[in-house]
Order: sequence, then C-alpha cells, then structure tokens
Amino acid sequence: MHKCVQDLEVFDLKSMRIWGGRPLDGTVNIQGSKNAALPIMAAAVLHKGMTVLHHCPKIADVLFMEKILIQLGAKVCWKGSSLYLDCSSLENTNIPDQYARKMRCSIILLGALLGRFGKGAIAPPGGCVIGKRPVDLHISMLEALGTRIEEKQGLLEAHTAGLQGGMVSFEKQSVGATEHAMIAAVLAQGVTCLKNCAKEPEIVWLAKFLNGMGASVTGAGTEEIQIRGVSVLKDSEFEIPPDRIVAGTYLCAAAITRGKICLENPPVLELSAFLGIYGKMGGQYDMVGGKLIADASGANGAVGLVETEVYPGFSTDLQSPVMAVLSLARGKSHIRENIFEDRFRVAEDLVRMGAHIRINGRDAYIDGTQKLQGRRVNAQELRGGAALILAGLAAEGETCVENFSLVERGYEQIQEDIRSMGGKASIEEG
Ligand code: UD1
Repeated sequence: MHKCVQDLEVFDLKSMRIWGGRPLDGTVNIQGSKNAALPIMAAAVLHKGMTVLHHCPKIADVLFMEKILIQLGAKVCWKGSSLYLDCSSLENTNIPDQYARKMRCSIILLGALLGRFGKGAIAPPGGCVIGKRPVDLHISMLEALGTRIEEKQGLLEAHTAGLQGGMVSFEKQSVGATEHAMIAAVLAQGVTCLKNCAKEPEIVWLAKFLNGMGASVTGAGTEEIQIRGVSVLKDSEFEIPPDRIVAGTYLCAAAITRGKICLENPPVLELSAFLGIYGKMGGQYDMVGGKLIADASGANGAVGLVETEVYPGFSTDLQSPVMAVLSLARGKSHIRENIFEDRFRVAEDLVRMGAHIRINGRDAYIDGTQKLQGRRVNAQELRGGAALILAGLAAEGETCVENFSLVERGYEQIQEDIRSMGGKASIEEG
C-alpha cells in the first residue's frame, strides 16, 4: 500500500518560474479529469463499501476531497494513480469547515450524505473567485426531494425522513446542481425526473459511474435525466476519463509558443468547440493512433468573437488560456463570458506583460501584440493562473507566477508536463 495522502500538505507560498520564448515541442499524457473525479468521489459516499477510481489525478482539489472523506470516516489509500475509497465505516455527517470553504464542489456531498444517512451539514462552500457562484439551485433541488434545510451558526444543516423522488426543473443549467441531484436521487424512494439539466461530459461520466455501482440513471447528456431509486449499491471500479480542460490548456501552450506537441490520451470529441477556435487561429491537428498531433506553428490569427457557453459550446474553463493566446495573435479578438460574471481577472496581469486587453463587463476586447515581456504576476484563480503560465512560456525573459498553489488545484504536474513539451519551468516554495 502506498502512503495515504492525508499526510500530504498543500503548500501556500509556491510560485512557478518560467523562461519563455521557445516553441514547445514534445509529448504529454493527459491526466484524469478533475471535474469528473470530484463528483464521483462524493458519490462514493452513497455506498457502504469500496470504490476504486483508476487514473485519478493527484491534484489539490482531489486531495481536499480526500481529506473531507477521511474526516467523515472513510478509509482512503492510493496505489499509483488508483484511489481506493472504503466508505463502509463512514459515519460522520458534518463536512469540515476548513475544506468545504476552500472547494465549492464539496456541497455535492450533502446529497450523498442525505441519501445514505438522512442528514448532513456543511459550511457554505467556497472555490475559485470567478463570480457570485450561489448554491440556490442545489438547495431548492434538495428541498424538492424532501429535505429540510436550515442555516444555523453559519452552517447549512439538512435533514430528511427519507429522500423522495420527484420532479426538479432547474431554472438554469448548472453542472454542479445537476450532478448533485443525480447523486441525491440514487437512494431516494421512487423515480426522480430532472429537467433543464446541464449536458457536460462529466455528467455523462458520473451517470456511468453511478450505474456501475448499481444505480439506475438514464438520459445523462440530455436536458432530461431520470433516476429510478434503488436500495442497494455494490463495490465498483471506474476509470477517470482524461481532462478536457488540461488538454485544451496544453493546446493553448502549443498555440501561444507556435509549437508542435503530441497529446496522448486526448478527449478529442469533448474538445470540439475549442478545436474550432484553435483551427480559426490557424492551428492544425491530426489524430494518429489515438494520439493528437498538434501543429500550432501557424496559430497566430485573431478569431473575431468567441463566447463561452454551456456544453457543447466553448467552455468557460478555457476562456483565460485562450485569452492569453489571443493576446499574441495578429489582429483583434473579442471574448464574451456568458457563464461567470467575474472571470477576466487574469487580464490585468496579461496587460502588465504587454497585452492589449480592454474589459467591459462580460466582454474582453483583445488587440494582438507582437511580444509579451516576462514579469512577476499573481494567479488569482485556477484557470487564470494557467493562462499566466502560458503567457510566460511565450514571453521574453523570465516570468514568475505567484500563488501557484491555485494552479495545483487542477493541474497534476504542469511543470513536468511543460518540461516534457520542451519548455523551461521550475517551482519555488516560498
Ligand atoms: C462546474 C465546474 C467548473 C466550470 C463550471 C461551468 C466542477 C467541479 N466545476 O462548476 O470548472 O467552470 O461547471 O462549466 O465541475 N449557479 C446558480 N445557482 C446555483 C449554481 C450555479 O446561479 O445554485 C450559476 C453559477 O453562478 C454560474 C452558472 O450557474 O453562473 C453555472 O455554474 P455551474 O454550472 O453550477 O458551475 P459549477 O458546477 O460550480
């Protein structure tokens, strides 16, 4: 058995130094998906037994979720990249404050605890600072399934005499609320019908996982999902799919440096909206033997208007990396952010590096420049931090991205991946 990860700490004072200015050239294997792994880990709580997740990324958010599960009473161990979650003796239903506040996705645990124990409590969750990010859809969904929720001393306390299947029509499409509802409905009495669901691939992966553990979920990937409640679940194993956002980030790294890279294990279909934008920039790619061979030596074009949208549209998570690339494109581009209202924080640091970007509410206007200059910059959130690393890879001289721990929330070993693609970067622990 490998060492349990409860012993690992996430450092707060890390920064990444990047020596930019060379086209990337190399191969990288895409890690498991953060946004698939987190809700699946939460769903494992439903089952009084063992869940094994293969190809699970060892990123900070997964380690946070793991710590929460340990606090709840799960036994957790890693063997290589396989995560073993034994939830048979899990019995605590209070989600620890210090972790819940750091990770928004932790709210999803509430539905799993309610399904298994009829109660749960959590501090209002945190997460990346990219807008208001309320949890109203989560709360009203749980209430519709028969939960009473009260706010007591800063905690959301939830109780149910037994979750009841029902109809939930979401006011807006939310990835987290859809996943949360699917998890809560697994052990509920009767049938639950969810309408206006998000259609992101991670929802389809969650449904596959739940069905593998004995649940009955149909319709995932469409706007209407049905869950027929079951009373018994079983031990299961699941392979976490490759991370589409990490793959997109690395294609952006190729584009911003005009490099050529090879992605092993790429989730190509899930990237199609992004690949459309990459193609408009002038980037090319081929699929050869299951690998994506990207030639981004000509990816220097502006793209006009691009808008973030719910899946299958262009993902908001790739908006900042794309902004970094467009800041070095020839001509003018315009990004409209439709999902989160405060997701342009990275623009300020890109401008300090020499980019020409003007923000007006949900719109960012980018006038491509010929060069960026290495600077000391500050990651304010996960994907913005990744975008600064990309800018550093293309910039003249040395860039130092402070607050690198935020990038580690979602990227397993970005410094090694950069090195294996021929870039130069190192981590400093302050
Ligand atoms: C998930 C992803 C995140 C991605 C986002 C959108 C995970 C762990 N995170 O986040 O990487 O950027 O989807 O693709 O999977 N909203 C409400 N009320 C709610 C819930 C959400 O108004 O109760 C709003 C949000 O503020 C946002 C929109 O709905 O404007 C979409 O958010 P949502 O899809 O819920 O994002 P997350 O699940 O938090």
